[in-house]
Amino acid sequence: MIKLFAANWKMHKTRAEARQTAAELAKLAAATLPQGREVLIIPPFTAIDAAVDGIAGAKNFHVGAQDFYPATHGAFTGEVSPAMLLDAGAAYALTGHSERRHVLGESDAFVGQKTAFGLAAGLKVILCVGEKIEERQAGQLQAVLTRQIRAGLADVPADTAPDAISLAYEPVWAIGTGLVAGPAEIVEAHALVRGLLAEKFGAAAGEIRILYGGSVKPDNAAEIIALDNVDGVLVGGASLKADDFSRIVLA
Ligand code: 13P
Repeated sequence: MIKLFAANWKMHKTRAEARQTAAELAKLAAATLPQGREVLIIPPFTAIDAAVDGIAGAKNFHVGAQDFYPATHGAFTGEVSPAMLLDAGAAYALTGHSERRHVLGESDAFVGQKTAFGLAAGLKVILCVGEKIEERQAGQLQAVLTRQIRAGLADVPADTAPDAISLAYEPVWAIGTGLVAGPAEIVEAHALVRGLLAEKFGAAAGEIRILYGGSVKPDNAAEIIALDNVDGVLVGGASLKADDFSRIVLA
């Protein structure tokens, strides 16, 4: 499976900054990117085309979006459609990032609606899931992942191409906190995710990428990426500087 190294820039970077960071990253990592790896830059909407410019066709580099609205067009002030993202040069999009669930109040059902709509529109979708610390402490890891994944995939066709859908396990308590989940915790959660994917996709679940996200840094990336069922990483803070992120991508 080709491992995916994704940089979620969240609400950071102007167009000029995005173009420059993407170009620097391509310069640092494109020529030496190991076989079996690809890189995804996920800037804010306004900088998608600038990041596309920045990577300027670097091999195995892609650009994605952080979100979208599940409709082709219409009276949805402030929203952006999958077709608009594809037009701007994004090939991928996230759904259900924990900040959208917990800061913007998105429900499991709405995340599911987006996931199915984005795939149907031709985006590759990365469905993000993960438990809050109080849920983990209450022994609800499996229940939370089951609920989020079943709802997230409810309307996704079972014959979806395995390279079109990925999952990202991001424990909320490890995002932006410096608290990385330990290897055993990551392996346990990723095995649960793989099992839930098999419920939906059968044998093809083995070809679907499961990314880990939450305080991934240059000094822990190699260990994380080598764990069972870890098919990539989704990186926030340590993806903002080309130098840091290139060390993750090349780890
Ligand atoms: P950090 O890498 O800053 O913890 O963020 C993780 C994340 O939310 C990526 O989507």
